[in-house]
Amino acid sequence: MKIPDQIGVSTIWGGRFSEGSSAVMQQINISIDFDKRLYAQDILGSKAHCNMLIKVGILSNTDGNVILQGLDQILHEIESGKFIFNNNLEDIHMNVESRLTELIGEIAGCLHTARSRNDQVATDFRLWIRDSIDEIGNVLQKLQKTLIDKAEYHINTVMPGFTHLQMAQPITFGHYLLAYVEMLGRDRSRLRDARIRLNECPLGAGALAGTSFPIDRYMVATELAFDRPCANSLDAVSDRDFALEFLSLIAICSVHLSRLAEDLILWTTTQFNFVVMSDRFTTGSSIMPQKRNPDAAELIRAKSGRVIGNLNTLLIVMKGLPLAYSKDMQEDKEPVFEATDTLMLSIKTMTGIIEDLSINTNNMKESTTTGFITATDIADWFVREIKIPFRQAHNITGKIVRLAETKKINLEQLTLIDLQSIDSRITDNIFSVLSVEASVASRVSFGGTSPLNVTAAIQMARQRFL
Ligand code: ARG
Repeated sequence: MKIPDQIGVSTIWGGRFSEGSSAVMQQINISIDFDKRLYAQDILGSKAHCNMLIKVGILSNTDGNVILQGLDQILHEIESGKFIFNNNLEDIHMNVESRLTELIGEIAGCLHTARSRNDQVATDFRLWIRDSIDEIGNVLQKLQKTLIDKAEYHINTVMPGFTHLQMAQPITFGHYLLAYVEMLGRDRSRLRDARIRLNECPLGAGALAGTSFPIDRYMVATELAFDRPCANSLDAVSDRDFALEFLSLIAICSVHLSRLAEDLILWTTTQFNFVVMSDRFTTGSSIMPQKRNPDAAELIRAKSGRVIGNLNTLLIVMKGLPLAYSKDMQEDKEPVFEATDTLMLSIKTMTGIIEDLSINTNNMKESTTTGFITATDIADWFVREIKIPFRQAHNITGKIVRLAETKKINLEQLTLIDLQSIDSRITDNIFSVLSVEASVASRVSFGGTSPLNVTAAIQMARQRFL
């Protein structure tokens, strides 16, 4: 079918136009394909506006109720899949208004009194993000619960801790998992913070300057569960910092998930063999029959890039815009929708991966026997028992490590004679700090990795987060 190169003049804003839009103009201008996702918020906002217009006497009770019923019917039509979205009507606001006119006639036009699409879209978008904040918070909490439950099985599971990806000091796997519980806890608190700042109502700001009608912005704000109306009409229609803040916290949360994914990917390799991901979250290779690829975790890692890009997109869209509204701001929705969908999927996927994850506790333990991982414990022993400054202790311990390295044995296998050849003050109670179990058990400072601490930390985490 040949697409007409021009469409009819808009019945909603076309009064001063004699010619319709070019087809390509329509293509660049329309947003209905994506902003239809705002339908519920759009109708909710319209109903609150209508209730207020009735209350202050701008709309009669009768007309107002006809409008409210029409809006309910449209909501029902959309939710039951019967509503036909029309590209010629640009966006969700005009699609709803036009259907309202079909349903109830000219009175529909009264709904736009004391309102503009500029304050309308800003309101819809805030409401949509607010809902998403709540949803993301819930799935994040579920992931935290999964991590805490897993940690409880691994309070005593010893593994190497790494810095620079080099063997550093022994830790417990439970402690490792709780690190992510903390990060996700901060992600949740960022969500709560963003929600507080976002929770002001733009509706009633009009196109940019407010309105000459005696509206009650507090009433609308309250009905929509906002804390208050936005204090400045220009700000209300022209800033998208709430969307930027939301994208920022999504990006940060995605980076957390990406790093967790990265450790798991590394640990599934034959070289590490610390963990096994279930069949449900891995794939095989079409050529190499032995393979079990951690695709799900790799995609979580990769999708963080997409989300970071979306934050960047909106920052760039916004950075040069003069006050107040510009159509550039229609480009705010796709990055936010996509980032939200992506993060939700990543969180749910990570929850499944962790639920199913089996841990090779023996391999974790076994790998702590290499890499002189308890060297710091020897240095600490010198400080405690011989009462020398840590710097000197570090130096002597370095010599001990070198001796073990030359003899191709680990620290636990050195004899007292070996050790005394480096420093004659060493006594045989040094052996009590050489095992990895002793090492983790000794890390009892607040926030440390000892099983005692982890047990208490699990209890605290349940109280703080679940
Ligand atoms: N679809 C538009 C958007 O998303 C709605 C606001 C249109 N306002 C205007 N002045 N053209 O931004």
